[in-house]
Amino acid sequence: MPLVVKGLEGIVASETKSSFIDGEKGILEYAGIAIDDLARNSTFEETVYLLWNKRLPNKAELDELSTMLRDRYELPPGMEQRLVALPTSAQPMHMLRTMVSALSMHDLEPNKIDAVSARRKALNILGHTPTLIAYFDRYRRGLPLVHPRKDLSFAANFLYMLNGKEPTPAMTRAFDICMILHADHGLNNSTFAARVIISTLSDMYSAITGAIGSLRGPLHGGANEGVMEMLTEIEKLAAEQHKNPMDVIEPYILDRLKRKELVMGFGHRVYKTIDPRATFLKTFSKQIAADTGNLKLYEMSSKIEEIMAREVGAKGIFPNVDFYSATTYHSIGLKLDLFTPMFAMSRVSGWAAHCLEQLDGNRLFRPAAEYTGAHNVPYTAIGNR
Ligand code: ACO
Repeated sequence: MPLVVKGLEGIVASETKSSFIDGEKGILEYAGIAIDDLARNSTFEETVYLLWNKRLPNKAELDELSTMLRDRYELPPGMEQRLVALPTSAQPMHMLRTMVSALSMHDLEPNKIDAVSARRKALNILGHTPTLIAYFDRYRRGLPLVHPRKDLSFAANFLYMLNGKEPTPAMTRAFDICMILHADHGLNNSTFAARVIISTLSDMYSAITGAIGSLRGPLHGGANEGVMEMLTEIEKLAAEQHKNPMDVIEPYILDRLKRKELVMGFGHRVYKTIDPRATFLKTFSKQIAADTGNLKLYEMSSKIEEIMAREVGAKGIFPNVDFYSATTYHSIGLKLDLFTPMFAMSRVSGWAAHCLEQLDGNRLFRPAAEYTGAHNVPYTAIGNR
């Protein structure tokens, strides 16, 4: 009988030069460069170049990529009208999935997937995604749309379009680092989804639309919203009991573990130690929270981490990227349901990098399933059922 590997755990399904993960040692590299080094020294635009070309750009190459990206900040004609025809109650991840799919209809050659066309489409999606998210958020809040500014970086322009004012250099840098940290991560579920789709020689829009659908799930990118919901629930519980939130954390987490409920932002298929992105985000979220003068959520998160290490650390369950990104995004002032779209906005770069790799030496993904149903079942006419 063939071996069924549920969840494909441990199965190597692709080769990649985009990112390397050592889950035992807690190492993540993009094209060989440690994530920590990139987060400290690089920019998101440079990271995109790195992921798509497997080397850092020189100044001219970086300028060229930045210009091409800035040329795509504005949406194609007609997309804005389509966006403001959506219900204001729509969830941003559903909006994003729908609108990225719609972008294909503004591409005169949507099906072309030669290397040049595939990169052009990847740039289209990456350039338009921040605008779609910022426009939609302002539209649903009844605020006038703020058009993109080509003189601003990817991170600064997004915050400008969202808030209607230029972000401070510190906020821009904080957000840029979040974009770098979320850009790529091996053959995670959404990246695999993108590669599966493009392996049929379908198009970049379809692959990235499918990946957005995958990322939304609470076991994947949706977990950052789950973390924030958990922190809010703890605060609510403390208010009901007239206690300090710090005093209800322990019973709350222990109760959750006892009931075999997941503690969001913990655990990972690959990491059996702390996710290196979480290590970085932990320090970082403390710094941003201190700058905003509100360390409460950071301190609550840190206490949850301590309890989880004591209770389930031996099982290899540690904070993942979503855990401290929740408090970071909150401190930056982003609304809860924009957390996962932020992940998508950055991860478009990684999805595209993997699609480019998949197309270069493509073989259709078509695994097998072990059939466990009945055989030789006679057909019964509908009147006799
Ligand atoms: N809280 C409590 N227990 C957990 C957690 C958690 N967050 N994660 C895993 N466990 C436990 C499981 O209950 C299981 O326990 P058991 O052996 O007693 O049954 C054991 O650890 C192994 O867990 P699996 O679910 O088999 O691990 P898997 O590799 O399939 O799942 C996953 C990984 C989905 C990330 C899981 O840890 C989880 O659901 N975490 C919470 C959601 C989350 O934070 N997702 C974001 C992941 S990072 C990302 O996608 C960007």
